[in-house]
Amino acid sequence: MSTMKTITNTLTFSSVEPDAGLKAALSKSRADVIAELNASNLKGRGGAGFPTSVKWNLAAAAKSDKKYVVCNADEGEPGTFKDRLILSDYANLVIEGMTIAGYAIGAKTGIIYLRGEYSYLRGPLTAIIAKRRAANLLGADIMGKSGFAFDIILRMGAGAYVCGEETALIESLEGHRGESRNRPPFPVDTGLMGNPTIVNNVETLAWAACILGKGGDWFKSMGTEKSAGRKLFSVSGDCARPGVYEFPLGITIQELLDAIGAEDVKAVQVGGASGHCVPAGQFQRALSFEDIPTGGSMIVFGQHRDMLDVAINFLDFFVEESCGQCTPCREGNEKLLEGALLLEEGRCSMAYLKDLCALGESMQLASKCGLGQSSANAFLSIVKYFKDEILGRTAVAQAG
Ligand SMILES: Cc1cc2nc3c(=O)[nH]c(=O)nc-3n(C[C@H](O)[C@H](O)[C@H](O)COP(=O)(O)O)c2cc1C
Ligand code: SF4
Repeated sequence: MSTMKTITNTLTFSSVEPDAGLKAALSKSRADVIAELNASNLKGRGGAGFPTSVKWNLAAAAKSDKKYVVCNADEGEPGTFKDRLILSDYANLVIEGMTIAGYAIGAKTGIIYLRGEYSYLRGPLTAIIAKRRAANLLGADIMGKSGFAFDIILRMGAGAYVCGEETALIESLEGHRGESRNRPPFPVDTGLMGNPTIVNNVETLAWAACILGKGGDWFKSMGTEKSAGRKLFSVSGDCARPGVYEFPLGITIQELLDAIGAEDVKAVQVGGASGHCVPAGQFQRALSFEDIPTGGSMIVFGQHRDMLDVAINFLDFFVEESCGQCTPCREGNEKLLEGALLLEEGRCSMAYLKDLCALGESMQLASKCGLGQSSANAFLSIVKYFKDEILGRTAVAQAG
């Protein structure tokens, strides 16, 4: 793992007062904590954008002696590394957010599910948890709040991308193969060991702590109407300053490209391998839930990049990472990769390309979990926007 310092602009996380959010939360009722979060309009930063207060409210309402708060630190999406930075530099804020969540939903146990490849963070995180325990920020009667007990354990993933999907993550925590579950029931109702469980992204939990400290209105005043607040972006590829950046939601792709020193850009892959490839003609579009939603990964492709190679690279990843449970994803990714390789050799007809696109659309509809529902996105958008480039290659190969 590189020890080079990641480039960032100024992150809000560096300016918040430590544990102000937890202190404020413990002075409120559980319902008021969730109301504050609701006022902020915070939506999950893990990709799906589910309203955080709704998730917490459902878990709070569930009747059970045992409930869990899970921090999804599996970050396996190619091109995504913002959570790694947050866990390296702002772990206290994430744990503060988990503790607030524990208070809000009535959970006594939090679990950080850490990506296997981030094992170097295990020691530092364990030390921070121990330090917080010693400071009465975890354990019994936290901050003197009688009867409020919450503690955190750390569990390692083993390098499977699908284990970032919340139900596969829960299966993995239970010691089973990492395979997604049918939903409903949803984890807020029937999660870890059958108990109500909230699974939240690392960044979501850090923002939740900021919101309790600074107020829901503060957060809501940033971003757009349907996409409140600011967001971290993992920026990589053909630009002068790759790194982790914080911007308000609603920023256009072009504004982001200007900030990172990216010129002569052919396309941007928004949302990682499972996201969409956006061509230069659409760079005025906004990064927001109402336009192009994203978990934060932005991969920049300069004019010299071969877009079919990009699609092949992503498909190769999905063939490797499909858990194999359902046919559309298990077989579909193989078939798409086979087709993309034929395209590369110039041996794919128009009719076959159409069939491949139809297959991709079926996978989006018929796959059991988000992996198979999104694994064709990159291929389909690349074929849509770079058809001439791809078919030009076929024509050259056929002429040769
Ligand atoms: C294949 C796959 C991988 C995922 N990986 C992650 C991940 O690494 N981190 C994450 O927070 N969410 C990931 N998600 C989304 C989670 O299922 C879930 O929506 C998220 O953790 C909820 O947190 P949030 O509401 O705070 O965004 C993944 C989803 C899928 C389908
Ligand atoms: S969509 Fe893919 S990863 Fe998800 S259950 Fe089906 S085979 Fe497994």
